[in-house]
Amino acid sequence: MRIVVLVSGSGSNLQAVIDAAQSGDLPVEIAAVGSDKPEAYGLERARSAGIETFIAPLQKGATPEQRQEWNRRLGEAVLSFEPDVLVSSGFMRIVSAEFLDTLVRTDGQAVPMINTHPALLPSFPGAHAVRDALAHGVKVTGCTVHQVDSGVDTGPILAQTAVEVLPGDDEPTLHERIKTAERDLLNRVLAETARGEHTFS
Ligand code: GRF
Repeated sequence: MRIVVLVSGSGSNLQAVIDAAQSGDLPVEIAAVGSDKPEAYGLERARSAGIETFIAPLQKGATPEQRQEWNRRLGEAVLSFEPDVLVSSGFMRIVSAEFLDTLVRTDGQAVPMINTHPALLPSFPGAHAVRDALAHGVKVTGCTVHQVDSGVDTGPILAQTAVEVLPGDDEPTLHERIKTAERDLLNRVLAETARGEHTFS
């Protein structure tokens, strides 16, 4: 199964996929890693692993037209690698419904997009899921891998893992424990997808 992975930051979840793919534990070929941020460390991880990278920057304060154009450029870059699945792993951008609709390979195969999220959706969607869960005082949170639709973290849920909130947790300690669970979950869902165990809408 060929995948393209999108990252915006450190890419530690991406590293877990790279490691599993390179060790032969995961039947996945990472065709390319893309980012909206040229400085994303995830791009460095990809280059070190000999994986192609691409950048699709989105300027600050972009107008709706500029966003549309960015979606178009991102889609073109992704499709040039002819992936089976597009993975958003710490990619901190919302893509448009048109972007998802045009994710179709030249052979006519639709390319599903999946995302990892550091909370048990539908609780705590958005960019500050760990902070929001702590502020709410939940005792259990976790991570979700879901298909991306045109909403914010609203697409069909593929798998989840619960993570306990411990006394004294702050955002970094809790997020780190969630990310440990998230790496296993993402690799598990990718393996299941490669075996045809998930159906995408
Ligand atoms: C993950 O928790 C992801 O769900 C969230 O950002 C984190 C990415 O971490 N959106 P990394 O870049 O893989 O280290």
